[in-house]
Amino acid sequence: MFQRPLRALSVSAPVAALALIGLLLPSVSAAQDRTAQQIKLRQSVYTVLGAQVTMMGAMASGRAPFDAASFKTAAQRAAFMASIAPDVFPAGSTAPNSKAKAELWQNSADFTALMADFGDKTAALAKAAEGGTLESVRPAFVAATRTCKACHDKYKLD
Ligand code: HEC
Repeated sequence: MFQRPLRALSVSAPVAALALIGLLLPSVSAAQDRTAQQIKLRQSVYTVLGAQVTMMGAMASGRAPFDAASFKTAAQRAAFMASIAPDVFPAGSTAPNSKAKAELWQNSADFTALMADFGDKTAALAKAAEGGTLESVRPAFVAATRTCKACHDKYKLD
């Protein structure tokens, strides 16, 4: 009862085309899933980074009392996120829900330089945070946050 009539094997061109589309669809959606995951990881890295910078910013501006240990932890976490950031921009990881501008993949030398400066300045901030006073961290904090703006102005959609 599972034997098909032989004539079913001679499929018409439109049917063959539909079958081909059917075969291609899973790989298209697998690629979309991969892109969605890449963007999710990237935005997560920046969300965690942003939370550290918000916390440090409150202390650096006097809106929150300066706590040397919390500041140091936040600075170390920010430097760690900055070490991951260069790896979360695989080519083609764009979608309407991403705010990454396509230009960043075209101007990769410039983007890489901004990324390196960001890594250097957040590492310097983590080092400065070992000093343990607001005076010792404030200039390094300002320098680190300038690197955020430098990249966002060019490569992040508002
Ligand atoms: C070299 C480039 C670059 C640097 C440096 C950079 N960013 Fe970003 N940032 C981006 C891009 C591009 C996006 C958009 C990512 C996306 O939506 O796919 C982004 C997104 C973000 C987001 C939004 C995350 C979300 O999806 O809600 C925050 C918050 C953020 N960055 C904070 C910072 C802070 C704070 C710094 C500095 C300490 C910083 N970024 C440094 C490029 C950069």
